[in-house]
Amino acid sequence: MSPNLFDQWRQGVVDQVERRLDQCLPHSGHVPTVLHEAMHYAVKSPGKRIRSLIVCAAADLFGCDVERAVHSAVALELIHAYSLVHDDLPCMDDDDLRRGQPTVHVAFDEATAMLVGDALQPLAFNVLATQDTTISPETRLQQIQLLSEAAGSLGMVGGQAIDLAQVGLRMSQAELELMHSKKTGALFLASAEIGALCGLAYEESYQGSLRGCARDLGLGFQVIDDILDASSPSEVLGKSAGKDLRDNKPTYVTSFGLIRAQELARELAERTEENLLCLPRSGGYLREIAKFVFNRVY
Ligand code: IPE
Ligand code: IPE
Ligand code: MG
Ligand code: MG
Ligand code: MG
Repeated sequence: MSPNLFDQWRQGVVDQVERRLDQCLPHSGHVPTVLHEAMHYAVKSPGKRIRSLIVCAAADLFGCDVERAVHSAVALELIHAYSLVHDDLPCMDDDDLRRGQPTVHVAFDEATAMLVGDALQPLAFNVLATQDTTISPETRLQQIQLLSEAAGSLGMVGGQAIDLAQVGLRMSQAELELMHSKKTGALFLASAEIGALCGLAYEESYQGSLRGCARDLGLGFQVIDDILDASSPSEVLGKSAGKDLRDNKPTYVTSFGLIRAQELARELAERTEENLLCLPRSGGYLREIAKFVFNRVY
């Protein structure tokens, strides 16, 4: 696929998702205005929208256009935004920079940041339940089930709990892999499956490859996040660099060193490629997303 074609598609997805995000958030003039303003601040700050792109790329593989998949992408983006607001809180990573701006608890206050997360979660499920598309009630229910499991204590939140419990401790590669697969991988996997479910041509025979690909993309995304934390400046990342080492967080880099972490990321990229080849159109846009994930610098 030509870089131009992908870039055009990517920009189209981002534009549609951001428009819908704006529409689904309560107007910031509604009471309580500060909470609503903070929700807009958290969600509309310039994120990469990777999870949205995965939703729409998986949907596209199975014959669904962006218009029909956009609500699913919005739901993923809302859960992700909430996870970042809570991740940055003083009781978690205590970060003051996110997406190039002060974090929500710094720009507003801690209680507001807690409530922003609390409010974004049900909003995500509301969007899936009430989307104005032809997606069947059965499919919506499956999507809600997938997202609630991925976001919960066996998925993303569980990964965050492990992350906090392991500060200052050593972790084996298997333990790190499990933590990363939960805290970041779970939402990547849910993005791919929820997106694919929007497509009428999604068949069980593709499930193994799609899941394998999404799992490795998610794990790889967090391994690269660990690498970038140790090797890229805050101005490029839009978040505080060097924070994992300062906070004594076990990561792929603090545990195995930069070179080994880069090797492991390359292995994951190769495994992702094998699964992409088993998908329709050799993975279509998902292939381009994988290239971005494994080569990204921010
Ligand atoms: C950051 O996710 C948190 C991780 C899971 C590493 P992103 O890097 O996707 O954050 P945004 O949405 O682009 O800000
Ligand atoms: C966060 O991982 C993962 C989630 C928010 C679920 P990190 O703590 O490494 O993310 P950053 O580096 O703050 O974006
Ligand atoms: Mg964290
Ligand atoms: Mg963090
Ligand atoms: Mg990080």
